[in-house]
Amino acid sequence: MIQVDNLVKRYAGFTAIHGLTFSVQKGEIVGFLGPNGAGKSTTMRILSCFMPATSGTAIVAGFNTYDQSLEVRQRIGYMPENVPLYPEMRVHEYLHFRAALKGVPRSRRRGQVERVSEQCGITDVMRKIIGHLSKGYRQRVGLADALVHDPELIILDEPTIGLDPNQIRQVRGLIKDLGKSHTVLLSTHILPEVEMTCSRVIIINKGKIAASDTPENLKRLRMGGGETVVEVKADAKAVENEFRAIPDVSQVEASPSDGGFCKVAIHPKRDEDLRETVYQIVRQKGWGLRELTRRRQTLEDVFVQITTEDD
Ligand SMILES: Nc1ncnc2c1ncn2[C@@H]1O[C@H](COP(=O)(O)OP(=O)(O)O)[C@@H](O)[C@H]1O
Ligand SMILES: [Mg+2]
Repeated sequence: MIQVDNLVKRYAGFTAIHGLTFSVQKGEIVGFLGPNGAGKSTTMRILSCFMPATSGTAIVAGFNTYDQSLEVRQRIGYMPENVPLYPEMRVHEYLHFRAALKGVPRSRRRGQVERVSEQCGITDVMRKIIGHLSKGYRQRVGLADALVHDPELIILDEPTIGLDPNQIRQVRGLIKDLGKSHTVLLSTHILPEVEMTCSRVIIINKGKIAASDTPENLKRLRMGGGETVVEVKADAKAVENEFRAIPDVSQVEASPSDGGFCKVAIHPKRDEDLRETVYQIVRQKGWGLRELTRRRQTLEDVFVQITTEDD
Protein backbone atom coordinates (compact mmCIF):
# COMPACT_ATOMS: atom_id res chain seq x y z
CA MET A 1 0.00 0.00 0.00
CA ILE A 2 2.98 2.28 0.67
CA GLN A 3 6.38 1.77 -0.94
CA VAL A 4 8.99 4.36 -0.07
CA ASP A 5 12.44 4.21 -1.69
CA ASN A 6 15.41 6.28 -0.72
CA LEU A 7 13.28 9.29 0.12
CA VAL A 8 15.14 12.53 0.82
CA LYS A 9 13.73 15.91 1.84
CA ARG A 10 15.88 19.00 2.07
CA TYR A 11 14.51 22.28 3.42
CA ALA A 12 16.63 25.31 2.51
CA GLY A 13 19.98 23.68 3.18
CA PHE A 14 18.74 21.42 6.02
CA THR A 15 18.19 17.73 5.31
CA ALA A 16 15.15 16.55 7.30
CA ILE A 17 15.06 12.97 5.95
CA HIS A 18 18.06 11.10 4.62
CA GLY A 19 17.05 8.32 2.26
CA LEU A 20 14.13 6.55 3.95
CA THR A 21 13.13 3.14 2.61
CA PHE A 22 10.17 1.26 4.01
CA SER A 23 6.87 -0.28 3.02
CA VAL A 24 3.45 -0.77 4.51
CA GLN A 25 1.28 -3.69 3.42
CA LYS A 26 -2.46 -3.58 2.95
CA GLY A 27 -4.30 -4.10 6.24
CA GLU A 28 -1.40 -3.17 8.52
CA ILE A 29 -1.65 -0.62 11.33
CA VAL A 30 1.82 0.86 11.48
CA GLY A 31 3.03 3.17 14.24
CA PHE A 32 5.53 5.78 13.18
CA LEU A 33 7.66 6.70 16.20
CA GLY A 34 10.51 9.09 16.72
CA PRO A 35 11.64 12.05 18.80
CA ASN A 36 10.52 15.56 17.89
CA GLY A 37 12.23 16.66 14.70
CA ALA A 38 12.92 13.09 13.54
CA GLY A 39 11.11 13.65 10.24
CA LYS A 40 7.75 11.95 10.85
CA SER A 41 5.56 14.84 9.72
CA THR A 42 7.84 15.52 6.76
CA THR A 43 7.46 11.91 5.58
CA MET A 44 3.70 11.95 6.08
CA ARG A 45 3.37 15.21 4.17
CA ILE A 46 5.21 13.69 1.23
CA LEU A 47 3.08 10.53 1.32
CA SER A 48 -0.09 12.58 1.26
CA CYS A 49 1.16 14.79 -1.59
CA PHE A 50 1.24 17.89 0.56
CA MET A 51 4.72 18.59 -0.71
CA PRO A 52 7.19 16.85 -3.01
CA ALA A 53 10.31 15.01 -1.90
CA THR A 54 13.73 16.31 -2.94
CA SER A 55 14.62 12.87 -4.31
CA GLY A 56 13.56 9.24 -4.03
CA THR A 57 10.12 7.79 -4.69
CA ALA A 58 6.94 7.22 -2.72
CA ILE A 59 4.31 4.98 -4.26
CA VAL A 60 0.97 5.09 -2.46
CA ALA A 61 -1.90 2.76 -3.40
CA GLY A 62 -0.10 2.04 -6.65
CA PHE A 63 0.40 5.68 -7.70
CA ASN A 64 3.44 7.91 -7.60
CA THR A 65 3.08 10.81 -5.18
CA TYR A 66 5.26 12.91 -7.45
CA ASP A 67 3.14 13.06 -10.58
CA GLN A 68 -0.09 11.21 -9.77
CA SER A 69 -1.13 13.20 -6.75
CA LEU A 70 -4.84 13.31 -7.69
CA GLU A 71 -5.04 9.51 -7.73
CA VAL A 72 -3.14 9.28 -4.46
CA ARG A 73 -5.25 11.89 -2.71
CA GLN A 74 -8.48 10.09 -3.69
CA ARG A 75 -7.27 6.96 -1.92
CA ILE A 76 -5.85 8.37 1.28
CA GLY A 77 -7.27 10.19 4.27
CA TYR A 78 -4.69 12.47 5.83
CA MET A 79 -5.01 14.15 9.19
CA PRO A 80 -2.16 16.64 9.60
CA GLU A 81 -0.43 17.57 12.82
CA ASN A 82 -2.36 20.81 13.24
CA VAL A 83 -5.81 20.08 11.92
CA PRO A 84 -6.60 23.01 9.61
CA LEU A 85 -10.31 23.53 10.22
CA TYR A 86 -12.26 26.64 9.26
CA PRO A 87 -13.21 28.04 12.67
CA GLU A 88 -16.18 30.07 11.42
CA MET A 89 -17.94 27.16 9.70
CA ARG A 90 -20.43 24.79 11.29
CA VAL A 91 -19.30 21.17 11.53
CA HIS A 92 -21.86 19.79 9.07
CA GLU A 93 -21.11 22.59 6.57
CA TYR A 94 -17.43 21.92 6.83
CA LEU A 95 -17.75 18.17 6.29
CA HIS A 96 -20.07 18.67 3.28
CA PHE A 97 -17.65 21.21 1.86
CA ARG A 98 -14.72 18.82 2.34
CA ALA A 99 -16.66 15.90 0.84
CA ALA A 100 -17.41 18.02 -2.24
CA LEU A 101 -13.78 19.10 -2.49
CA LYS A 102 -12.67 15.49 -2.36
CA GLY A 103 -15.00 14.56 -5.19
CA VAL A 104 -17.68 12.63 -3.29
CA PRO A 105 -20.69 12.69 -5.68
CA ARG A 106 -23.50 14.97 -4.50
CA SER A 107 -25.91 12.06 -4.08
CA ARG A 108 -23.59 10.31 -1.65
CA ARG A 109 -22.41 13.29 0.40
CA ARG A 110 -25.15 13.32 3.02
CA GLY A 111 -24.78 9.59 3.65
CA GLN A 112 -21.01 9.79 3.90
CA VAL A 113 -21.08 12.75 6.30
CA GLU A 114 -23.62 10.92 8.47
CA ARG A 115 -21.55 7.76 8.48
CA VAL A 116 -18.28 9.42 9.49
CA SER A 117 -19.91 11.66 12.09
CA GLU A 118 -21.31 8.56 13.79
CA GLN A 119 -18.00 6.76 13.46
CA CYS A 120 -16.12 9.67 15.04
CA GLY A 121 -18.72 10.43 17.73
CA ILE A 122 -19.54 13.98 16.63
CA THR A 123 -23.25 13.69 15.80
CA ASP A 124 -24.16 15.91 18.76
CA VAL A 125 -21.99 18.83 17.59
CA MET A 126 -22.88 18.84 13.88
CA ARG A 127 -24.66 22.21 14.13
CA LYS A 128 -21.97 23.88 16.23
CA ILE A 129 -19.42 26.38 15.00
CA ILE A 130 -16.01 24.73 14.74
CA GLY A 131 -14.25 27.60 16.56
CA HIS A 132 -16.43 26.92 19.62
CA LEU A 133 -15.54 23.24 19.90
CA SER A 134 -13.22 21.74 22.48
CA LYS A 135 -9.87 20.37 21.36
CA GLY A 136 -11.14 16.79 21.58
CA TYR A 137 -14.10 17.48 19.30
CA ARG A 138 -11.99 19.46 16.85
CA GLN A 139 -9.61 16.54 16.63
CA ARG A 140 -12.49 14.19 15.88
CA VAL A 141 -13.88 16.54 13.21
CA GLY A 142 -10.41 16.40 11.66
CA LEU A 143 -10.59 12.64 11.70
CA ALA A 144 -14.09 12.69 10.16
CA ASP A 145 -12.70 14.94 7.44
CA ALA A 146 -9.90 12.46 6.75
CA LEU A 147 -12.46 9.65 6.37
CA VAL A 148 -15.27 11.38 4.51
CA HIS A 149 -14.32 10.11 1.02
CA ASP A 150 -13.88 6.55 2.32
CA PRO A 151 -10.13 6.20 1.64
CA GLU A 152 -8.31 2.86 1.67
CA LEU A 153 -5.30 4.26 3.50
CA ILE A 154 -5.39 6.55 6.51
CA ILE A 155 -2.40 8.67 7.53
CA LEU A 156 -2.73 10.28 10.95
CA ASP A 157 -0.10 12.66 12.31
CA GLU A 158 -0.28 12.53 16.12
CA PRO A 159 -4.05 12.02 16.24
CA THR A 160 -4.24 11.99 20.04
CA ILE A 161 -2.08 15.01 20.79
CA GLY A 162 -3.69 17.34 23.30
CA LEU A 163 -6.51 14.97 24.23
CA ASP A 164 -7.40 13.85 27.74
CA PRO A 165 -7.14 10.16 28.73
CA ASN A 166 -10.82 9.45 28.02
CA GLN A 167 -10.66 11.03 24.59
CA ILE A 168 -7.41 9.21 23.87
CA ARG A 169 -9.13 5.95 24.69
CA GLN A 170 -11.99 6.78 22.32
CA VAL A 171 -9.69 7.73 19.46
CA ARG A 172 -7.60 4.62 20.06
CA GLY A 173 -10.76 2.49 19.84
CA LEU A 174 -11.69 4.24 16.63
CA ILE A 175 -8.26 3.62 15.11
CA LYS A 176 -8.43 -0.06 16.04
CA ASP A 177 -11.84 -0.24 14.40
CA LEU A 178 -10.62 1.50 11.27
CA GLY A 179 -7.72 -0.91 11.16
CA LYS A 180 -10.13 -3.79 10.52
CA SER A 181 -10.99 -2.46 7.08
CA HIS A 182 -8.24 0.05 6.29
CA THR A 183 -4.49 0.40 6.19
CA VAL A 184 -3.34 2.88 8.83
CA LEU A 185 -0.09 4.77 9.32
CA LEU A 186 -0.04 6.88 12.46
CA SER A 187 2.56 8.85 14.34
CA THR A 188 2.33 9.29 18.07
CA HIS A 189 4.36 9.90 21.19
CA ILE A 190 2.22 7.70 23.38
CA LEU A 191 4.07 4.42 23.44
CA PRO A 192 1.55 2.22 25.27
CA GLU A 193 -0.89 3.33 22.60
CA VAL A 194 1.35 1.88 19.92
CA GLU A 195 1.56 -1.42 21.76
CA MET A 196 -2.21 -1.55 21.98
CA THR A 197 -3.06 -0.59 18.41
CA CYS A 198 -0.18 -1.24 16.03
CA SER A 199 0.85 -4.46 14.31
CA ARG A 200 4.21 -2.94 13.43
CA VAL A 201 6.40 -0.08 14.53
CA ILE A 202 8.80 2.00 12.47
CA ILE A 203 11.18 4.03 14.61
CA ILE A 204 12.75 7.00 12.87
CA ASN A 205 15.57 9.04 14.31
CA LYS A 206 17.28 12.09 12.75
CA GLY A 207 15.72 11.39 9.39
CA LYS A 208 16.72 7.72 9.22
CA ILE A 209 14.95 4.44 9.96
CA ALA A 210 16.34 3.12 13.23
CA ALA A 211 14.13 0.02 13.56
CA SER A 212 11.10 -1.65 12.01
CA ASP A 213 9.42 -4.63 13.64
CA THR A 214 6.46 -5.79 15.71
CA PRO A 215 6.37 -4.27 19.21
CA GLU A 216 6.97 -7.77 20.67
CA ASN A 217 10.05 -8.43 18.56
CA LEU A 218 11.53 -5.04 19.31
CA LYS A 219 11.25 -5.73 23.01
CA ARG A 220 12.67 -9.21 22.70
CA LEU A 221 15.61 -8.32 20.46
CA ARG A 222 16.55 -5.31 22.51
CA MET A 223 16.62 -7.01 25.88
CA GLY A 224 19.15 -5.57 28.21
CA GLY A 225 18.59 -3.89 31.47
CA GLY A 226 16.30 -6.75 32.48
CA GLU A 227 17.05 -6.40 36.16
CA THR A 228 15.69 -8.81 38.74
CA VAL A 229 13.63 -7.25 41.49
CA VAL A 230 13.32 -9.09 44.77
CA GLU A 231 11.69 -8.18 48.08
CA VAL A 232 12.92 -10.15 51.09
CA LYS A 233 12.70 -9.98 54.89
CA ALA A 234 16.29 -9.25 55.91
CA ASP A 235 18.69 -6.42 56.60
CA ALA A 236 19.28 -4.32 53.45
CA LYS A 237 23.07 -4.20 53.87
CA ALA A 238 23.37 -7.96 54.38
CA VAL A 239 21.17 -8.58 51.33
CA GLU A 240 23.22 -6.25 49.17
CA ASN A 241 26.47 -7.99 50.14
CA GLU A 242 25.00 -11.39 49.43
CA PHE A 243 23.77 -10.50 45.90
CA ARG A 244 26.90 -8.54 44.97
CA ALA A 245 28.82 -11.78 45.30
CA ILE A 246 26.94 -13.33 42.34
CA PRO A 247 29.46 -13.44 39.43
CA ASP A 248 27.09 -12.15 36.70
CA VAL A 249 25.91 -9.14 38.69
CA SER A 250 26.99 -5.61 37.82
CA GLN A 251 25.06 -3.59 40.36
CA VAL A 252 22.79 -4.08 43.38
CA GLU A 253 20.57 -1.46 44.99
CA ALA A 254 18.68 -2.30 48.18
CA SER A 255 16.27 -0.04 50.03
CA PRO A 256 14.28 -0.84 53.19
CA SER A 257 10.51 -1.24 52.78
CA ASP A 258 7.84 -1.88 55.43
CA GLY A 259 7.60 -4.78 57.89
CA GLY A 260 11.35 -5.49 58.06
CA PHE A 261 11.49 -6.19 54.32
CA CYS A 262 13.84 -4.62 51.82
CA LYS A 263 13.44 -4.19 48.09
CA VAL A 264 16.43 -4.98 45.91
CA ALA A 265 17.16 -4.34 42.23
CA ILE A 266 19.87 -6.65 40.86
CA HIS A 267 21.32 -5.67 37.47
CA PRO A 268 22.96 -8.40 35.39
CA LYS A 269 26.23 -7.77 33.54
CA ARG A 270 24.83 -8.81 30.18
CA ASP A 271 21.35 -10.15 29.56
CA GLU A 272 21.43 -13.00 32.09
CA ASP A 273 18.24 -13.94 33.82
CA LEU A 274 19.25 -13.98 37.50
CA ARG A 275 15.99 -15.13 39.00
CA GLU A 276 16.94 -18.70 39.71
CA THR A 277 20.30 -17.82 41.30
CA VAL A 278 18.60 -15.19 43.42
CA TYR A 279 15.93 -17.66 44.49
CA GLN A 280 18.55 -20.21 45.56
CA ILE A 281 20.28 -17.63 47.76
CA VAL A 282 17.00 -16.50 49.33
CA ARG A 283 16.09 -20.11 50.10
CA GLN A 284 19.52 -20.93 51.50
CA LYS A 285 19.36 -17.90 53.79
CA GLY A 286 15.82 -18.69 54.84
CA TRP A 287 14.68 -15.11 54.11
CA GLY A 288 10.96 -14.38 53.84
CA LEU A 289 10.09 -13.69 50.20
CA ARG A 290 7.43 -11.30 48.96
CA GLU A 291 8.36 -10.69 45.33
CA LEU A 292 10.73 -12.06 42.73
CA THR A 293 10.40 -10.73 39.17
CA ARG A 294 12.41 -9.68 36.20
CA ARG A 295 11.49 -6.22 35.03
CA ARG A 296 9.98 -6.39 31.57
CA GLN A 297 11.48 -4.23 28.90
CA THR A 298 8.86 -1.70 27.76
CA LEU A 299 8.56 -0.16 24.34
CA GLU A 300 9.60 3.07 26.02
CA ASP A 301 12.91 1.50 27.08
CA VAL A 302 13.46 0.34 23.51
CA PHE A 303 12.57 3.75 22.13
CA VAL A 304 14.98 5.56 24.45
CA GLN A 305 17.70 3.03 23.73
CA ILE A 306 17.37 3.28 19.95
CA THR A 307 16.99 7.04 19.71
CA THR A 308 19.86 7.93 22.02
CA GLU A 309 22.28 5.22 20.88
CA ASP A 310 24.66 7.34 18.80
CA ASP A 311 24.70 10.36 21.12
N1 LIG B 1 9.07 23.86 6.39
C1 LIG B 1 10.24 23.60 7.00
N2 LIG B 1 11.35 24.35 6.75
C2 LIG B 1 12.54 24.07 7.33
N3 LIG B 1 12.73 23.05 8.20
C3 LIG B 1 11.67 22.28 8.50
C4 LIG B 1 10.37 22.51 7.92
N4 LIG B 1 9.52 21.57 8.40
C5 LIG B 1 10.25 20.79 9.25
N5 LIG B 1 11.54 21.21 9.31
C6 LIG B 1 12.62 20.58 10.07
O1 LIG B 1 12.76 19.24 9.64
C7 LIG B 1 12.99 18.38 10.73
C8 LIG B 1 11.95 17.29 10.77
O2 LIG B 1 10.71 17.88 11.11
P1 LIG B 1 9.35 17.05 11.22
O3 LIG B 1 9.19 16.22 10.02
O4 LIG B 1 8.27 18.01 11.55
O5 LIG B 1 9.67 16.12 12.47
P2 LIG B 1 8.67 15.31 13.44
O6 LIG B 1 7.31 15.35 12.85
O7 LIG B 1 9.26 13.95 13.51
O8 LIG B 1 8.73 16.02 14.76
C9 LIG B 1 13.02 19.25 11.98
O9 LIG B 1 14.35 19.52 12.30
C10 LIG B 1 12.29 20.49 11.54
O10 LIG B 1 12.75 21.62 12.26
MG1 LIG C 1 5.58 16.01 13.62
